[in-house]
Order: sequence, then structure tokens, then C-alpha cells
Amino acid sequence: MDKKKKQLNVSNICCIGAGYVGGPTMAVIADKCKNIKVTVVDIDQERINSWNNSDLDKLPVFEPGLKEIIGRVRKKNLFFSTDLENSIKYADIIFISVNTPIKTSGLGAGYASDLKWVEKSSRQIADFSEGHTIVVEKSTLPVRTAKVIKDILNSSTKNPEISKTFSILSNPEFLAEGTAINDLLNPDRVLIGGEDNLAVQVLSEIYKKWIPQEKILTTNLWSSELSKLVSNAFLAQRVSSINSISALCEATGADIKEVSNAVGLDSRIGNKFLNSGPGFGGSCFKKDILNLVYLCKFFNLNEVADFWYQTVLINEWQQKRIYEEIVRKLFGNLSGKTISILGFSFKANTNDTRESPAIKISRNLLIEGAHLQIYDPKVSSHQIRNALNDFFEYKQNEEKTSSWRYFIDIYESIKGSDAIVITTEWNEFIYLDWKKIYSLMRKPAWVFDTRVILDKAKVKESGLNFWGVGDGFEKRDI
Ligand code: NAD
Ligand code: UGA
Repeated sequence: MDKKKKQLNVSNICCIGAGYVGGPTMAVIADKCKNIKVTVVDIDQERINSWNNSDLDKLPVFEPGLKEIIGRVRKKNLFFSTDLENSIKYADIIFISVNTPIKTSGLGAGYASDLKWVEKSSRQIADFSEGHTIVVEKSTLPVRTAKVIKDILNSSTKNPEISKTFSILSNPEFLAEGTAINDLLNPDRVLIGGEDNLAVQVLSEIYKKWIPQEKILTTNLWSSELSKLVSNAFLAQRVSSINSISALCEATGADIKEVSNAVGLDSRIGNKFLNSGPGFGGSCFKKDILNLVYLCKFFNLNEVADFWYQTVLINEWQQKRIYEEIVRKLFGNLSGKTISILGFSFKANTNDTRESPAIKISRNLLIEGAHLQIYDPKVSSHQIRNALNDFFEYKQNEEKTSSWRYFIDIYESIKGSDAIVITTEWNEFIYLDWKKIYSLMRKPAWVFDTRVILDKAKVKESGLNFWGVGDGFEKRDI
């Protein structure tokens, strides 16, 4: 069959990387394209085993609506495997959806993306693919990475007798964790960047199975790569903007909820992403902004770099000032005090703890000597151990006054504590029995609402002291 005609007839998709993006995205594609076999591959055998777990409550990623889709399509036309070689060989389209964290050492350390996983995936594709393959960048990447991938794909010397050709597309993912399935089913837009019109059309046809054509945007490769970084930077900048104003509210007697509402009602500004909190977390905002900063510096656009870097600095400052406020309210001393941390994921409706503000706040409280009692409805004690235990290793030669414990019952996690810190906006925290909580705590007892989700009047009625981000009530005298 003519190679170009065959391209339009996609029967096999492979996705390299079975993470928070690869798993849910491929599950939705498999659900919407029942005639296509979708295989998600990963080098992490444990992760693949979890995706294949017959107990759908033990999938490695928690997302509302995900387990129902996996239940429908797994082992029908969706497969999770560690067999990279065969999955690549038979694929018409390969999505690269591997991790792209910030480099921790070497040139660009602390800013530039570490592309070693992308490079490895590209080399695997170069070695094992056969015939024509459309290679899609799904990972978030620095601008011009498509050129790097192209050079790697075209330089393989393995199996020279097999003909291999490639089209490279950029198709960044805009899903947010906690709403991933809804975002995948009803995206604001699908962005496809590429120079090969036929390949762009082939990928568009997949999305058109459930997304209206007008939402499928096509651009050149570099615009697509850059748009992803800029989208995250704009979102994160809104969070830092409103958080900077939360401090001003506390200083002046204003109320961040009222200010955010008033500002957001201007349709030119809009009301989304104006919730003040403990700063943004998650695996991407910080790394993508730092990557943007690196890119600007690389092109000598230092003023632009400084502008975006400020978004990260405000975020770090917000987390620091919240912890300092807690220490101040508890008489400047946390030694011998117990603090309940409610929520450990970086936002509600996900089990992901990467860059969670709860980690930074918890670590600072541990430094002050506090005992932490931690509860989260979806995060495991194993994840908390990974996030906190190097703190104890680091302090092993010093006197240990601090500690943490994990609880599966929220009221047990509050018993005997001096303060509660709401670090994630889980819905169940809004409806707690504050009278019961007051009776369980040591007095004077405090509630710190870093997510601005509680009904302050109810909390205070029960006898608890209250502090909330952006709540300037202490200054509300005229
Ligand atoms: P993740 O760490 O959850 O998953 C990445 C997976 O890739 C891991 O399981 C890892 O083992 C696997 N992997 C790495 N190299 C491999 C190789 N050579 N062969 C096979 N498997 C390999 O990461 P994620 O959160 O899914 O993010 C993936 C990419 O998508 C990143 O670039 C991220 O910036 C971007 N992104 C993430 C989100 C999100 O909400 N998490 C949203 C949009 C975009
Ligand atoms: C974000 C973007 O929203 C996605 O479009 C993007 O695809 C993704 O990053 C990515 O590239 O990884 P995500 O990080 O999953 O998604 O979640 P968000 O809802 O954006 O929240 C990020 C952080 O900002 C969270 O810690 C959240 O609590 C915080 N946030 C968000 C606020 O503090 N206030 C807000 O108003 C909104």
C-alpha cells in the first residue's frame, strides 16, 4: 500500500511513558477509537503492574472517572506493557509522554529541562521502528526540541536494511490533574504543531472522533512548543498575582475572597485561577517557568527572564510567610507541639504530591521541632515518607524533637493537636464538625486555612482561633 495512504489508516498507537499524562490520555483515546490498538509502555515494571491491577482502586494514578474508562477498554484495545521493542515496531503513531524535570546538575542546572528521557525514547524509536512513523511530542519540552528528536531519529544505524521514515509533531497536553478526564473529553483546544500536513491531518482525525474541528488548532512546531510553556506561565502568574495581593489584604483589612470576586467579574480578567492559597504546586508550573526563564536568558532577553522568574519567587515567599505566621501565632515555639496537616496532595482530587505546598510547609514545621499528624484521603504513607524522610536523615546527628505520623481517620489525626493546617482544598474539609474538633484539641487551639475554603464564622463559633490566607479581619477597625 502507498505509504502516505497507509498513514491515514491508523491501527496501532504506542505511548512511551505510563504516567499522569500517558495513562489517562491513552485511556481516553482507546475509549473513543475502538478500532485502534493503543499500547502504553514504560520502563517501570511496578507502574505497569499497577496499571494492570485487576483492582481498579489500585491504579497508579487517581483521577475521577479514570477507573471506569480503564475498566471498559483495558485488555480490549488498551494495553500496558514493558515491551517497548514490539510496541514501537508496530506503531503508526508514537506519543512521547515521558518525564521532563529540571536538570539538577551540569549546564543549565536548576532551570533547563533534563531531556535524557526524551533522548532515550527517541533512540528507542530510531532503533525499533519500521516503515513510516508519526512521532508526537506529548511531553512539555523546550522550544526546538523537535529538531533534537529529528536528528536522533535520522541517525540510527541499527537494522539499516529496514526502511524507516518519520514525521514529527508537537501536541502538548493541557490537562490538569484532578480534572484530567473531563479536560481530555472537553478540552478548550487541542494544539498540533508540525510541518508535515498529512501527519497533522492523521493526528487531527483521531481527535475529531470526539472533539469539534474548530477546537483543533494547527500551528508551526515552534509555536506549539512555546505555547505550552507560555500557557503554564500565564496560569502560574495569575496564582502568584492573587497570592501577592493576599498579603496586602492581611495588612490592610481587605478580604482576598471579596477582592478576587470583584476583580474576576471583569470579563476581560475572568474569574478563573484567582483562588489564593499556599502557592502553586504540581510537577509542571515551576519547572515550565524555569524553563521559560532559561530560554529567555539563552536568547539574552534578561528583562523577560526576570519578569517570569518573579512568579516563582512570589510562590516561594507565599509558602514561607504562611509557615512563619503559624509559628508566630503559636507563641514562636513549636517544640513539643502537635500540628495536624490536613491534605498532602498538591491540589484536591489527585494523589500527586509533586511540589506540593504541604511538603514545604511540613518541612519547615519539622525544623521548628513540631510533631505532625498527617491526613490525606488519597495520598499514601509511602508517598509522605518519600517527601519527608530525607529531612530526618539529614538531621540524624542532631537531637530529634520532631516527628510525623500518618492517619487514615481524619478526627484521629486531630486528637491532641495544638493547630490544624488545611494544606489541600479537599471537599471533605469544608464539612468538618468543628465543635467535635474543638473538644479533641489542646487549647488554645488554632485553625490555619491556607486554601480559603472554610466558613470562618463556624470555626470561630466553636471556640477555635482562626487564621486564613488573605483574611485581613485583624485589621478591620475603622
Ligand atoms: P510521570 O513522571 O508521571 O510519567 C512519566 C513516565 O515515563 C514514568 O513512568 C517513566 O518511568 C516513563 N519513562 C521515562 N523514560 C522512559 C523510557 N525511555 N521508556 C519508557 N518509559 C519511560 O510524568 P507525567 O506527569 O505523566 O508528565 C509527562 C510529561 O507531560 C512531562 O513533560 C510533563 O511536563 C507533561 N505534562 C504533565 C501534566 C500533568 O498534569 N502531570 C500535564 C501536561 C503535561
Ligand atoms: C496545570 C495546568 O492547569 C494544565 O493546563 C497543564 O496541562 C498542567 O499544569 C501541566 O502542564 O502539568 P495542574 O498542575 O495539574 O495543571 O493543576 P492546576 O489546576 O493548574 O493547579 C496547579 C497549582 O496551582 C495547584 O497547586 C493549585 O492548587 C494551584 N492553584 C490553582 C491555586 O493556588 N489557585 C488557583 O486559582 C488555581
